[in-house]
Amino acid sequence: MPSIAHDPEHRLWVLSGPGSSYVLHLDDADRLRGLHWGPRLTLEQAVSLLRYPEPGRRSFEDGADGTLDLDTAGAMRYAHAGVQVRFPDGVRDLEPQPTGEESLHHEDGTELVLRFADRHYPLTLEAHYRLRADTDVIERHLVLRHTGTEADGAITIVRADSATWVLPRLGEYRLSQVRGQWCAETQLNRTPLPYGETVLTSRRGTTGHQSNPWAMIDDGGADEVHGAVWSCALAWSGSWRLTAERMPTERVTLSAGFGHDPVTWKLLPGEELATPVCAGAYTEGGFGAASRLWHRHVLNHVLPHPEEIRPVLYNSWEATEFDIELTGQIALAEKAAALGAELFVMDDGWFGARTHDAAGLGDWTPSPDRFPDGLTPLIDRVHDLGMRFGLWVEPEMVNPDSDLYRAHPDWVLHHPHRRRTEHRNQLVLNLARPDVAAWLHGRLDELLSKNAIDFLKWDMNRPFSEAGWPDADGDPDRLWIKHVRNLYTLLDRLRADHPHLRIESCSSGGGRLDLGILAHTDQVWTSDNTDAVDRVEIQHGFSQLYPARIMGAWVTDSPNPYTGRSVPLDFRFHVAMNGVLGIGGDLSRWSPAEMDRAAEHVAAYKRVRHLVQLGEQHRLRPRDGGELSAVQYLAPDGRETAVIALRTARRFGRDDPALPLRALEPSARYRDAATGVLHHGAVLLTHGLPLELDADDHASILVHLIRDSTP
Ligand code: GLA
Repeated sequence: MPSIAHDPEHRLWVLSGPGSSYVLHLDDADRLRGLHWGPRLTLEQAVSLLRYPEPGRRSFEDGADGTLDLDTAGAMRYAHAGVQVRFPDGVRDLEPQPTGEESLHHEDGTELVLRFADRHYPLTLEAHYRLRADTDVIERHLVLRHTGTEADGAITIVRADSATWVLPRLGEYRLSQVRGQWCAETQLNRTPLPYGETVLTSRRGTTGHQSNPWAMIDDGGADEVHGAVWSCALAWSGSWRLTAERMPTERVTLSAGFGHDPVTWKLLPGEELATPVCAGAYTEGGFGAASRLWHRHVLNHVLPHPEEIRPVLYNSWEATEFDIELTGQIALAEKAAALGAELFVMDDGWFGARTHDAAGLGDWTPSPDRFPDGLTPLIDRVHDLGMRFGLWVEPEMVNPDSDLYRAHPDWVLHHPHRRRTEHRNQLVLNLARPDVAAWLHGRLDELLSKNAIDFLKWDMNRPFSEAGWPDADGDPDRLWIKHVRNLYTLLDRLRADHPHLRIESCSSGGGRLDLGILAHTDQVWTSDNTDAVDRVEIQHGFSQLYPARIMGAWVTDSPNPYTGRSVPLDFRFHVAMNGVLGIGGDLSRWSPAEMDRAAEHVAAYKRVRHLVQLGEQHRLRPRDGGELSAVQYLAPDGRETAVIALRTARRFGRDDPALPLRALEPSARYRDAATGVLHHGAVLLTHGLPLELDADDHASILVHLIRDSTP
């Protein structure tokens, strides 16, 4: 069980998970310091830290700078402050004093709440730390409350980071993050952390393709299997900011929260602002162990239905784009069912005047031309074929050429006297408005009530611009946060009222991927780039924090419609089998031989998907410029393992190296489910699994090993 040990005399708390401790200390000036984040310490050991002076203190530095867990702006601290406010009289310094603490009991763990109040102004702060039984992840969030009256006026919250994590002193600091673009998401970037503030951010109103709200720090020496890693991830799907700061004093902090400069929140008397969670974790055992810890956290504590195996889906987008009608979709559904697909998703183009991307968004009724009898004939046929039915929607958007916009031009984000910048011919609905949120709920609820829809692909294809709300009742800046909160509420209401409904988060591919949206959805569309070779890279970065269980991966046509690259069917399948397998090709053009081979792959995936989706992931050979990459998936009980190896091109006629596997039982024997060959655990762990890949480019293999119980 996690524990929170408290020494009141020394004003110190030790928060411990199975393999790590986080130590908090209130110093003589009532500042809450992060004293230790690393291997487990007892209370006595932690108290002894107080005897270790802060090294390198110079007269121009406040030794507390870069060491505060509750990192409020003020005094002679000049580093990034996690909490920044402006009181009505212009004062920006905070002077929080401790006012109490509380331990909350949860079924799966415990939570420490530390309370503070400003020495003078009517503002209280609560720092929450939640620990769960089975993990070293600490979930931190903050609650700010205005305790004054009307006469005190509003307090402007400039920044309320969910957490500021204080790193220990390391010899060197290296930052791991992902960068991306549309069609090139989640590419891993590992660089020395420069001095100064490194800001990862989205100012787009959504999580964004360009970077993702997590970061890892190591001392430059960690690899997949060795070394300590400190990581944090923010659970938020709107604008965000993560500041990694390395001070010249060699103090390093990671501070992350919702919102972006210069958007503020005006806290009114009696009101409170609760931040989303920023989760942090210390792990040993390299990046592989850090990733597995996050995967397990997402599976056990974030997803709404973590125990579920996600079905093999078919999606119509690349096959038909906007050219959608009943008979064509039924023909695709029949072919998809023949391959073994379990969920048929009809993508964009089924509603309103949506025959192209310039019209119809917002009019969520089936097109009378293409679906004269509504969606029921298609849905019935899909269900008869033994598949579930899914539908694409993009609820937060509107095309100016739509009945919705013609009726409510004021429902979109806009400023008076400014242009309304369109992207993909669309504008963003102001979901912060209660009337818009209520209308949208009504429309979607009706759609789900009238049609037997099992799955929604929930898209969001453009960021905010001209984000104004001219007739707002109060501070229009609130829309940045309220949009996201209302989105979460809407998703939760629909799920509660339609309990069988499952949802995929999409934002032009992987633009809305974060721990926040994952608490309200079931899987994520990883990227609009379905080129298998590019996907290896994208999936590698994706897997640093997020589990395969949520990573939508389709097999599409060759040559790839986006990149033009031709890749064999086997390789395309093996790449996609590293996530939630889907098929997105134009099946009317697949030959009978391709259809047969595809059906074999789908069946093979179904035999190992419990390992891929719910097992432990070991990246055996990340594709860092090399030819061969491989990932191993291990059943939680260790009885089965699957290995997927991918080689893009063989160079210099080199033989493929055998792949040493991980986490097997050395004394056990493992049988290859396809060939019957028996391997010894000890040999697989050391000498490795021999690979028999074709000499051709884009060679790949899936090996399924089952522990042999015969004596
Ligand atoms: C976005 C999605 C695609 C597809 C199209 C439809 O680009 O990422 O998968 O749904 O919209 O317009």
